Amino acid sequence: MSPTQSEHYKLLVIDDDKAILAFLQESFSRDGYQVYLAATLAEARALLARHEVHVVLSDQNLPDGNGVDFLAELHGTGIEAIPILMTGYADLNIALDAINRGKVYKFVRKPVDHILLKQIVQRAAEHYALLEEKKRLASEVLRYNELLRRDSELQSRDLKSAHSKIQKHSQTLRKQKEQIETLYTEIQSAYLHTVTSLCVAIEAKDLYTRGHSDRIYYYCTLTSRRLGLDNASFEELKLAGVLHDIGKIGIPDSILRKTSALTESEHAMIRTHLDFADKILMPLPFLEKTRRIVRQHHERYDGTGYPDGLKGEEISIEGRILAVADAYDAMRSNRSYRNALTMRAAFDQLEAESGKQFCPLCVAALRTGISEEGEYPQAAQASAPSLPPPQAKPSRLRSRVSH
Ligand SMILES: [Fe+2]
Ligand SMILES: [Fe+2]
Repeated sequence: MSPTQSEHYKLLVIDDDKAILAFLQESFSRDGYQVYLAATLAEARALLARHEVHVVLSDQNLPDGNGVDFLAELHGTGIEAIPILMTGYADLNIALDAINRGKVYKFVRKPVDHILLKQIVQRAAEHYALLEEKKRLASEVLRYNELLRRDSELQSRDLKSAHSKIQKHSQTLRKQKEQIETLYTEIQSAYLHTVTSLCVAIEAKDLYTRGHSDRIYYYCTLTSRRLGLDNASFEELKLAGVLHDIGKIGIPDSILRKTSALTESEHAMIRTHLDFADKILMPLPFLEKTRRIVRQHHERYDGTGYPDGLKGEEISIEGRILAVADAYDAMRSNRSYRNALTMRAAFDQLEAESGKQFCPLCVAALRTGISEEGEYPQAAQASAPSLPPPQAKPSRLRSRVSH
C-alpha cells in the first residue's frame, strides 16, 4: 500500500538498546509515524510477517545477528521497506557492505544526531511513497495499454465483422444484379424471338417475298465486307435485314397481296410500315440502332425518300446498304405484277439510280460482291411461285423496288 499524507508511515526500529527503542518510539510516534519495535532480528522478522512496513531502521550489531545481513535478507525476500543502518563503527568497509549487500538507503552513525535521523527517516518514507507511486503509475500504464489493446481488438473485430457483412451484402447484390440481367436478357431474347417469328410469319404468308430476309442478309454481308464495316455494325445490320419489314404486320393483307397497281392512298398505307416497325421495336433498348437502320431502308440518297427525307450521309451506312440490298432482291424477285428482272437489268437500274436513290459506294460494293461470290444460292427467281401474267411495267423505280 502506498502511504498518503492522511496515513501514518510505518517504521520498524531494531535495536537491542531498550532506551534507544523507547526514545525513538516516543519521538517518531509524536511525528505521526506508526512505530514497531524489535530488540532482536527474530522479533523483527515476526513483525514484518504480520505488518507492512515502509522504513526499517536497524542497528548493525544485534544479539542474534548482523544488521547488514538482515537488511540484505530483506532485499532478497522482496520486502520493499526502505532500509537505514545505524552503527557505532565508522568503518568504510561496513558502509560499503551495507550499501552493496544491504542496499541501505542511508548509513547513520551512532550516537545518532536525532534531528538528522528524523530528516533521513522522513526522506526514506517519502522515497518509499515515490517508489510505490511509480509502481502504481507503471501498473496504470499497463492497465491502460491492455484496455487499449482490447479496445483495438474489439474495433478490429467489429471492422472485420462489418467488412464481412458488406462483402456478403455486395455478393447478394451482385447475384441479384446478375439474376436481373439474366432475366432482362431472357425477356429481350423472348421478345426478339417473337418479333423475328412474326417476320417469318409475314414472309410465309406472302409467296412473293418468301426468303427475302435470308437474301437481304446475304447481300448485306457481301456489301459490308467490301465496305469494311466493323463487326458491331454488321451485327446491327444483319438484324435490321431480318426485321426491316416487320412493320408490314400493320398493313392489311388486301393491300399486301393486291395484284393490281396500288392507289396513292394504298401507297401511303404501305409507307406506314416504318411507323409500325418503330412501335414494335421501341420497347427493346438494345435494338435501338437496329430500329434506326430499319427506319432508314426507304430513305433515298438524294433526300426524296421516306419517312424522314434524310439525304446522303445523314442516312447511316447500314441504312444505305440495306436499301440497296432490299431493292436489288425486290427487282430480282417475281411479283404479282411483273417477272423478276435479270441480274443485268437489276444492276442497270441500280446504277441508273446510283447517287440518286442509292448510295454509289453501296451499289458498287454490291456489284463487286456479286461478281466475285455470286448471288444468293437459292435466288428468288429459282424458287418463286409460278407467275400470273405480268402487269404493265411500272414506270418508276420506286414502284419496282417497293415490296
Ligand atoms: Fe420496306
Ligand atoms: Fe424488303
